[in-house]
Amino acid sequence: MTMKERVVIVTGAARGLGRGFSERLAAEGAAVVCGDLRPCDETVAAICGAGGRAVALRLDVTDMASCLASVEVAVAEFGRLDGLVNNAALYADIKGARFDQIEEKQWDAVMNVNVKGIWQMCKAAVPQIRKAGGGSIVNISSLAAVHGMAYAIDYGVSKAAVIGITRCLARELGRDWIRVNSVAPSLVLTEGTTSYFGAKHEQVTKAIAGSQALQRNLEAGDLVGTIAFLLSADSHFMTGQTLMVDGGTEFL
Ligand SMILES: NC(=O)c1ccc[n+]([C@@H]2O[C@H](COP(=O)([O-])OP(=O)(O)OC[C@H]3O[C@@H](n4cnc5c(N)ncnc54)[C@H](O)[C@@H]3O)[C@@H](O)[C@H]2O)c1
Repeated sequence: MTMKERVVIVTGAARGLGRGFSERLAAEGAAVVCGDLRPCDETVAAICGAGGRAVALRLDVTDMASCLASVEVAVAEFGRLDGLVNNAALYADIKGARFDQIEEKQWDAVMNVNVKGIWQMCKAAVPQIRKAGGGSIVNISSLAAVHGMAYAIDYGVSKAAVIGITRCLARELGRDWIRVNSVAPSLVLTEGTTSYFGAKHEQVTKAIAGSQALQRNLEAGDLVGTIAFLLSADSHFMTGQTLMVDGGTEFL
């Protein structure tokens, strides 16, 4: 699964899953552009400390100019762009509530980052990936999209849209040999999860682990291999798919 000579942008790379994806892709030989609203210095230091190649940048996926700037950095630093991991999302900081009590402001913010942000990053990245002769885009959806998630209709709908974006773009970009797939994880133990569930964290994580065929909660390390696979040539004839990495919760 070599990724040598590949250049990949990972959004939301400062912590959690985005950091895990960045480190694994770099370990497979890719040069990684780590973008986030939060500083990505620790992610990049870990990659470079392990002998990998990476650069940090402040990225706001809701701002088209910022998306375009991330692609410019990839080309300026590493000469090309082959892949994109759309991982940034509003998740940790949103408030769960009944569907009729979710604030309109939060609904709009979630759609803006989780849906429009992916569309914008794809618009920015595709011309360069096309120039490289093709490549791979991986969008992070969620079990919430497939299984449904009570008290998080905004988040669940946004993650269902991620699957929609994946399928539409896969149809449109196949002729350029640009593959587009998504990954739908179950609950993963990250800083974001701790902050989202707050006082209910232990109770919820235990219940979710018990509902899976493989009865423990996921960690970032359980997902990184799937991301690397989808970005590598090993998955070269797969596009438009959503891979459930959920310990066996939903069987598609
Ligand atoms: N942790 C889970 O249980 C879980 C489960 C299923 C899916 N997911 C998805 O996986 C991804 C990562 O989850 P996580 O737990 O690491 O979350 P997280 O909140 O720890 O990380 C998300 C990152 O995105 C960044 N971000 C937010 N808005 C941004 C913007 N406008 N521009 C650029 N960066 C921005 C944040 O600063 C943060 O570093 C998300 O897409 C999430 O929806 C997570």
